[in-house]
Amino acid sequence: MLEPLALYIHWPYCLSKCPYCDFNSHVAKTVDHPQWAQAYIHEINYYKNLLGARNITSIFFGGGTPSLMAPETTQSVLAHIDKAWGLSDACEITLEANPTSVEASKFQDFKRAGINRVSVGVQSLNAQDLKFLGREHSPEEALKAVEVAAQTFDRFSFDMIYARPKQTVDSWSQELCQALSYMGNHASLYQLTIEPNTPFFTRYNRGEFHIPDDKISADLYEVTEDIMRDAGFNSYELSNYARGEEASRHNMTYWRYGDYLGIGPGAHGRYYTNAGQKFATRAHRAPDIWLKQVLDTQKPALQDCFSLTEEEQFQEKVLMGLRLSEGMPSSLFEAKKVDALLNNGDLEMRDNATLCATRQGRLRLNSVIGYLLT
Ligand SMILES: C[S@@+](CC[C@H](N)C(=O)[O-])C[C@H]1O[C@@H](n2cnc3c(N)ncnc32)[C@H](O)[C@@H]1O
Ligand code: SF4
Repeated sequence: MLEPLALYIHWPYCLSKCPYCDFNSHVAKTVDHPQWAQAYIHEINYYKNLLGARNITSIFFGGGTPSLMAPETTQSVLAHIDKAWGLSDACEITLEANPTSVEASKFQDFKRAGINRVSVGVQSLNAQDLKFLGREHSPEEALKAVEVAAQTFDRFSFDMIYARPKQTVDSWSQELCQALSYMGNHASLYQLTIEPNTPFFTRYNRGEFHIPDDKISADLYEVTEDIMRDAGFNSYELSNYARGEEASRHNMTYWRYGDYLGIGPGAHGRYYTNAGQKFATRAHRAPDIWLKQVLDTQKPALQDCFSLTEEEQFQEKVLMGLRLSEGMPSSLFEAKKVDALLNNGDLEMRDNATLCATRQGRLRLNSVIGYLLT
């Protein structure tokens, strides 16, 4: 049987830069779409030669704003992946979309290009908060885009950001319940984080706005979990909720520490070579540098590419795996530490063999993992 492989493809451009976002996203006056398609194809060819035959289980066009791509670009990239490795109907092919009317009008073209799942960045249903977040769409426009996504694709998801300034448990509960009536079977619900080197970081440190304190954030997380559970969603990862079998297969590959390739500027990859070494890769972040280098060399423009030691792999596996409600085998960890975390309620044991974080543990997962790994 062929080893499974997921592909992440990064599109780094956006219409404008949201003040909270530290992702590798840029605003450009012009983009040469055929050149981008060609560069992605060079990377795909390189990895096909390196790794040989594999079973492509998922492809994720992430960003930036991949709904700004020309559908012809996604089509030619997918055609090349099909030529290189073969694509089955079972392959999950997701595209991240911003919910402006222009982008929603392209959903049919993306479907024809081979996309079978979209993830729509709704973020909020409150007009004032969307302005505060610097978004280019109104709540009405976002919900219209979600409706078009539901009519076009069998599978769609949407993202929201909560724990926003002045948000209360009541106001968020109402907003989430309203959002639920538009949801399919998957949602990603993230608490707002203030990231260094963003305009929000500067404004927050100047005291221009406040975000909910730890106690309110914990209450907001609890109520999110309750509302989603009551609506039939499994909280399968810290911020991700799915009904039935609708978990994102692509993201599950990251969290289960499976193999994935990072294609495009700033993308990360983790994969086993045929010699049995696990490699970590990170591409140049700057779109122009990445593009020029890939077109010149016909190889990935990597800033880092190194093999991981067993110890490094273990640490990464735990960092990812304990985010999942399915948990990890308890036999991987020191019994004394596990007992301490079970006793203080951060972890729970399932079937005498599997450890998973409790709600309390999820709220301080970094320190739980830090304790397990030191
Ligand atoms: C980087 S965006 C890419 C997709 C698309 N451009 C969009 O804005 O929806 C992916 C998701 O990251 C989340 N995100 C980015 N920065 C965040 C932050 N500082 N706090 C919480 N969520 C954030 C948003 O929910 C967003 O939907
Ligand atoms: S949140 Fe999305 S649209 Fe906004 S800058 Fe980041 S990637 Fe671009």
